[in-house]
Amino acid sequence: MEISYRKRIEIPESIIGELLMKDNLNNVISIEDILIDKFVHSGYVCLDGTVGNGNDTIKLAQKVGKNGKVYGFDIQEIAIEITKEKLAKADLLLQTILINDSHTNVDKYIKETLDFAIFNLGYLPGSHKEITTTASTTIESIEKTLGLLKENGIILVISYIGHSGGFEEYQSVQNYLSALDQKKYNIFEASFINQINNPPRLFCIENRGGKS
Ligand SMILES: C[S@@+](CC[C@H](N)C(=O)[O-])C[C@H]1O[C@@H](n2cnc3c(N)ncnc32)[C@H](O)[C@@H]1O
Repeated sequence: MEISYRKRIEIPESIIGELLMKDNLNNVISIEDILIDKFVHSGYVCLDGTVGNGNDTIKLAQKVGKNGKVYGFDIQEIAIEITKEKLAKADLLLQTILINDSHTNVDKYIKETLDFAIFNLGYLPGSHKEITTTASTTIESIEKTLGLLKENGIILVISYIGHSGGFEEYQSVQNYLSALDQKKYNIFEASFINQINNPPRLFCIENRGGKS
């Protein structure tokens, strides 16, 4: 009896995958993916300000191809190592420059203009939760990245508000971005307003190239 009951509730792995994939827009990463797909092209120069486990660096490196370039920063050597290994396996090392330093130093390493940048804030999943981005360093590096951004270039900032200090960082970034001149930048914020457990927020900044 027990065996037949068990059999009835077994769901094949392949179907579990399909059930989980029913919706296309269920978090800010799905919006990030759409924006990367639409606005990052072959030959582009991009920045990943927080390399972490390398997911964003890989997406960008795939999109820019061998004629493009992705600069990736992380203060944790382990993040750089993990990502280097993934990039090597995917044959994406050629177009990637990984830098084990703070994104507040973008201006010291990047001597060209950027088409696209992403800052996926917070801590490295699966590692030290106390090593996180902070409001002041995040704003400093966004400001420097704005200075490197081409006309119509885009910066995405994904802000996690559930961990200690996360909400304060989110508020500081929102305050900073809200005060930027609308003649120079188009800026919007996206959030999944009916979800529980503090879902992350996404900011998108487009450089309009205007003068105030
Ligand atoms: C949420 S994770 C990034 C996730 C990553 N983009 C991915 O796709 O896996 C945040 C990362 O920011 C890094 N970080 C924190 N402060 C930093 C700083 N000042 N400069 C560069 N990276 C920093 C952390 O070490 C951590 O790896």
